[in-house]
Amino acid sequence: MAIKKLPIIMHGITGRMGYNQHLCNSMLPIIKEGGVKLSNGDRILPEPILLGRNKNKLAQIARDKNINQFTDDYSIIESTENAVFFDAGTTLMRPELLERAMKAGQHIYCEKPIGMSLTEAENICRIAKNTGVKTGIVMDKLFLPGLLKLKRLVNEGFFGRIVSIKIDFGYWVFSGENKEQMAQRPAWNYKKSEGGSIIFDMMCHWRYVLDHIIAPVQSVDCVGVTAIKHRVDEKGQTYTADADDAFYANLILQDGIMAQISSSWCTRVNRDDLVTFQVDGTQGSAVAGLTQCKTQSLAQTPRPVWNPDQPNTINFTEQWQPYLAEATFDNGFKTQWEMFIKSLYGEGNYIYTLNEGAKGVQLAQLAMQSWKERRWLDVQALNL
Ligand SMILES: NC(=O)c1ccc[n+]([C@@H]2O[C@H](COP(=O)([O-])OP(=O)(O)OC[C@H]3O[C@@H](n4cnc5c(N)ncnc54)[C@H](O)[C@@H]3O)[C@@H](O)[C@H]2O)c1
Repeated sequence: MAIKKLPIIMHGITGRMGYNQHLCNSMLPIIKEGGVKLSNGDRILPEPILLGRNKNKLAQIARDKNINQFTDDYSIIESTENAVFFDAGTTLMRPELLERAMKAGQHIYCEKPIGMSLTEAENICRIAKNTGVKTGIVMDKLFLPGLLKLKRLVNEGFFGRIVSIKIDFGYWVFSGENKEQMAQRPAWNYKKSEGGSIIFDMMCHWRYVLDHIIAPVQSVDCVGVTAIKHRVDEKGQTYTADADDAFYANLILQDGIMAQISSSWCTRVNRDDLVTFQVDGTQGSAVAGLTQCKTQSLAQTPRPVWNPDQPNTINFTEQWQPYLAEATFDNGFKTQWEMFIKSLYGEGNYIYTLNEGAKGVQLAQLAMQSWKERRWLDVQALNL
């Protein structure tokens, strides 16, 4: 058994996603386990190199987490040999950094979205093709226990013919105006100029969730809003929030399946989880959250009769059965990292590439255009 070291240049690691999900929940546990095990018993041991603009913050994280290498010198992208470049930094910088890394011959793995426009995304995919490097994009929702269970139900044919899916996502993100209730998401999310937009953020996720679990997306109709016009940033400064912070969309999927999506940072939660996915089919329905999933088969379906003159006597929420309630799953970000690393050594069919990321940007852009032009738009196949 051999141990092979894999340098991974990690950019954006002082941020929310980079630090929590990628460094603490993925990279460090993988290292602790002795690396990613290949089928021949060899182990691939990641060697993180933290990269960012603030050396002091990086030094602190490196110290805390026992990491040897960190730098604010971006030429590390060119000077490291046979590395992976990972980006969880700001979306605005992503296309340029990915281009730079790919041209230096590094494989790349990154957060979504891969660009702020389809043109940018297509360009990045072209560079990937020309340089021949391997690419991977985070599609974390596919690895949520709730959605893994939902996918299993689809594969088992539980639903019969799927009729529709309803995605209800969101929670109240505090504006930060009240010092007792600081905003729980970064301020850039609410500023257009810094890449903020819930449509761009979430449609990238919903594209791969729908394509990979239910059916390919064919058309979209979307309305966005900026419900909260002023917010307070991390430094206590009030700013004008000009990015959309909620949207309401209808999509048509292959075979006429309807998808209804509501995504909002201006709603209070009255459902099982911060996001719920309800799939209705001729033979049964299921509702998945982040971790749980519950079902109601045709045989278990109640028979309500509309009568506004009498109080309702049926407790609808009690009429669902937990599905795989005891099943446990590893952190989804970590699972995806392991799959990506294995794919660099020829193991597994890694399908979550930049080209898939471009489809997310495509849907986000079409949703935005649909809102501005107040019309339905079709999703064309991309020529990547
Ligand atoms: N997969 C998911 O579910 C998910 C969730 C949230 C965010 N994201 C994506 O992850 C990325 C980061 O989001 P976040 O919520 O962690 O944001 P964040 O603001 O917490 O982190 C941003 C990171 O980028 C760095 N950065 C910002 N401006 C920079 C500049 N000019 N030069 C160098 N570095 C700079 C910051 O220092 C920080 O490390 C975004 O692309 C976002 O779309 C993905």
